[in-house]
Amino acid sequence: MYLTKEEERIYDGEMGWAYEKAIKILVKLGEIFEATRLIPIESAHISGVSYKTLGDAATEFLKEIVNAGGVVKTRATINPSSFDPQRVDVMNVPNKYRTKQLHILNLYKEMGVEPTLTCTPYYVNKPASNSHLAWAESSAVVYANSVLKAWTNREGGPSALAAALIGKTPNYGVHIPENRKANVLVDVKPKLQNEMEFGLVGIHIGSLLKKRIPYFKGLNRPEEGSLKQLGAALASSGMTSIFHFGELPPRGIEKITVDETCLKRTLERFSATFEKPDLVFIGCPHCSLREIKEIATMIRGRKIKKDVRFWVCTSRHVKEQAEPYVNIIEKAGGRVLCGTCMVVTWLRELGIETLMTNSSKTAYYAPVFNRVETGLASLSECIDMAFNP
Ligand code: F3S
Repeated sequence: MYLTKEEERIYDGEMGWAYEKAIKILVKLGEIFEATRLIPIESAHISGVSYKTLGDAATEFLKEIVNAGGVVKTRATINPSSFDPQRVDVMNVPNKYRTKQLHILNLYKEMGVEPTLTCTPYYVNKPASNSHLAWAESSAVVYANSVLKAWTNREGGPSALAAALIGKTPNYGVHIPENRKANVLVDVKPKLQNEMEFGLVGIHIGSLLKKRIPYFKGLNRPEEGSLKQLGAALASSGMTSIFHFGELPPRGIEKITVDETCLKRTLERFSATFEKPDLVFIGCPHCSLREIKEIATMIRGRKIKKDVRFWVCTSRHVKEQAEPYVNIIEKAGGRVLCGTCMVVTWLRELGIETLMTNSSKTAYYAPVFNRVETGLASLSECIDMAFNP
């Protein structure tokens, strides 16, 4: 892999241990995937922020980077953490975890990372189309490549941090035009009715395709929120980092059909046995302003049912813009939380054993990561479950 003179000096440790470590991670990755050089990136988005998923050893690594003077060289944002520090009245996570979480956030701050704490960094700062990025957080990667037409591989936490410290990433994978082309045509026969059904298609196709790239034909009203659910689900059950839709369908590639039975069978995987959930969770991936407005419109004038919690997750950036809608949700008894999500927190410690969501990604992960029984339903069904008429 070709390195410039300056990159060689970093590699040889002349700029200090933090940058040497970072460039060695990037070069190693580049060699594995046959990159020819490092390319500049517009931004990095780093996962591995919640103490629940990061743990002590990785926190120690972050501390070493900070102690060695590591500061990011490009715009860098971070994924959600394990609680909303401004709403400990709602998310009362144990003190021992709070301290560790705040320590992690401080370490990122010392590195010059923006404390966005969101998995939808594109609502905070939309990347330019054709810009090269180094984003971790698989749902954001798929959205960036497929909807925003930016270019990013599916980074892990360490490689996204390394790219942020160097301001570059190795040019392999979907940074190369030929690697972005669809190789399976997915003909979606049912007229998808809501965001949940887009998520079901994502789970089904992700598990079939793994790393192959789908072109979706027949998507009914593919608006931004539904595409976000499709991509997040696709990246949960599979490893795809890009999908295509809308343009002229590619010819001469393998074809797969999605019919009603596929959707029904996938939904059956997420059917719940409980009558009433402890928590209804909306906001995986984090809600947009439009989605918060939609929720507020649906629950205006209603009241939360007894013994059910209704939490909406978003970024602080979006919440600030959504204030009138947030007020409606909170008045009805719901709560709008920032910088966190239900997959990266300790649900059982919060007294939650049963969960209902409109997110296929959460329904896919929560039973394993959080040991809670999880059901999947559309946004309007979730709202009916949480609020009196
Ligand atoms: Fe975001 Fe958490 Fe879902 S990080 S994509 S809300 S699992």
